[in-house]
Amino acid sequence: MRGCLAPHPPHLAYASNPPQNEPKSSGAGAWTALLEGYESLRKSLEDGDFDVIIVHTPHWKTRRGHHLLGVEHFEGLSVDPIFPNLFRFNFDLQVDVELAEAIHAEGEKQGLVMSMMRNPEFRVDYGTITSCYLAQPDFKLPIVAISSARSYFDYSNEVGEREMLALGEATRIAVEKTGRRALLLASCSLSHRHFTEEPADPEDPEFEYIYNANQAKWDRHILDLIESGRNRQILDEMPDFIEQSVSECKDGSFTWLLGAMEVPELPGKVHGYGTVIGTGNAVVEWRLDEQAVQA
Ligand SMILES: [Fe+2]
Repeated sequence: MRGCLAPHPPHLAYASNPPQNEPKSSGAGAWTALLEGYESLRKSLEDGDFDVIIVHTPHWKTRRGHHLLGVEHFEGLSVDPIFPNLFRFNFDLQVDVELAEAIHAEGEKQGLVMSMMRNPEFRVDYGTITSCYLAQPDFKLPIVAISSARSYFDYSNEVGEREMLALGEATRIAVEKTGRRALLLASCSLSHRHFTEEPADPEDPEFEYIYNANQAKWDRHILDLIESGRNRQILDEMPDFIEQSVSECKDGSFTWLLGAMEVPELPGKVHGYGTVIGTGNAVVEWRLDEQAVQA
């Protein structure tokens, strides 16, 4: 198993100009640091020999429990509701339904409310598509996509954290039972307060900078913890981080990832950090499989 923070600003797909995306980039270069970070990640993943990508996405929000894609093939047009000028993406992807069902079953054993999405017309969200595209542009591997339940919002950050650790544990057990070599993607930004106006060219580098010093400081702190392997401390501080930097971690992806990796005392490799509309985004990889081989 290998785990990554793989944020999903649709801007990064737009700037990469894939044939599947209808809008075309101006090439002005506002997000170079993150695009280079993803390039470095893709290179690093080449030795992974994975069977499947499992992604937890903040943009498939489910009112009741945790949902998983449960149909073998999805295709269609995914449009970002906030940035339709940047992201109208023709997606075509395969799903590892057997693994999704195994995670569903293990989640129920953990006491979680779980559900399978069986509608073949379902429009897959842009968080899933962008993170999967940036990690694996040819969509060759099947995916498992997991929704974000509303526990943090309906109850508290602490309740949300407990659920996501349980969901991570369920994911890990299902991966082990099915014998999959899995790449896990937590599709979220770090700090997430953002600008509410867009310049004429959204890719204008002069417009792009972190929203405020407070959230930049939080991001730097979290990156320090990642790079020194203090992942348990990240969880300890997560409720405060979420509140004080309006973090997208409130949708649970990062905590799910740490839970699935059993909160390793392993430094993450930061491939890149940068802002998109003022939000803080880090591309990070934890090479657990490498650690297992060394052990
Ligand atoms: Fe988002």
